[in-house]
Amino acid sequence: MIESSDFQTARIPLNQGSGHIPALGFGTLIADAAATITATRDALDAGFRHFDCAERYRNEHEVGEALQAGLAAGAIAREEIFVTTKLWNTNHRPERVEPAFLASLERLRLNYLDLYLIHTPFAFQAGDDQDPRDQNGNVLYDRGVTLLDTWRAMENLVDRGRCRSIGLSDITLKGLLHIYESARIKPAVVQVEAHPYLPEPELLEFCREKGIVFLAFAPLGHGIRPGPLEDPVISAIAARVDKTPAQVLLAWAVQRGTALLTTPRSAARARENFNISALPQDAFDPINRIQIRQRLNNVVNTGAPGFIPRVSA
Ligand SMILES: NC(=O)c1ccc[n+]([C@@H]2O[C@H](COP(=O)([O-])OP(=O)(O)OC[C@H]3O[C@@H](n4cnc5c(N)ncnc54)[C@H](OP(=O)(O)O)[C@@H]3O)[C@@H](O)[C@H]2O)c1
Repeated sequence: MIESSDFQTARIPLNQGSGHIPALGFGTLIADAAATITATRDALDAGFRHFDCAERYRNEHEVGEALQAGLAAGAIAREEIFVTTKLWNTNHRPERVEPAFLASLERLRLNYLDLYLIHTPFAFQAGDDQDPRDQNGNVLYDRGVTLLDTWRAMENLVDRGRCRSIGLSDITLKGLLHIYESARIKPAVVQVEAHPYLPEPELLEFCREKGIVFLAFAPLGHGIRPGPLEDPVISAIAARVDKTPAQVLLAWAVQRGTALLTTPRSAARARENFNISALPQDAFDPINRIQIRQRLNNVVNTGAPGFIPRVSA
């Protein structure tokens, strides 16, 4: 599935059109606006070419600013980068999909998007409040719209030509199957939490069979310690192959055929996380045998994100 043995430039083919997605992606879930700009520039300078954004991260404007400046400074063409953003839960009603998409494009200063994802399968009450709750603090869901209704509106965006591929995030295999079977345009990418403590083998196998790119978020376990970064198997392999634990975890993700998103927040970490290469088989196999199972982000169960910056809109 991975086209190149060079992990830094590896690209995975997409099932829609003739496009490819870089295996290594930079995630922009960063709380601080100024830090978003510097981290995005540092990632571009380190070599990252996939930038994963979201309406919900409330920093598309800053990412757009950093990308525009970085592309100009590095003489990098728009076609050389791959930009993803996501439709938030409060915009699932079909008539809200295109306006949300166009607003993201404008904030990102782009005239087309490489990939648009439905951020979670949960529709929240439509409106400007991204986190609608009742007086007891419970999320207000919108029962009047199905995921398939929203998917049809996403398909229309592809037809109109400013969105090259569409996909889903925080979805289970069962949920993906339902959309896959009914879709006119099949999902190109599925973005879910995955790391050695949550390898999601059934979902990965289904994606392999159908040519859907499995895009792993939290490949470093969101940096939570203790967690995969401090796992003794990972530490021992890192020492043996003379890489850092982060580099081992990221290499494992690419080697098993997934694309990934990581969020280094300094130039040094951007270079570290980009500088990965294939693991020898006797280093790769023990990671597959890790028995610990742990989901770190509950968003897949509720649609309410666990890691969203608390900044004003
Ligand atoms: N679809 C969804 O619902 C969803 C949910 C979450 C995330 N995402 C996407 O996935 C992206 C990736 O986020 P993530 O949390 O999954 O990223 P991650 O790279 O797994 O974890 C980021 C954390 O790891 C630490 N870190 C980064 N590089 C490191 C290194 N070389 N050594 C040690 N620690 C390191 C960072 O520490 P510092 O804080 O010290 O820099 C940060 O705390 C997000 O930006 C977002 O685009 C999507």
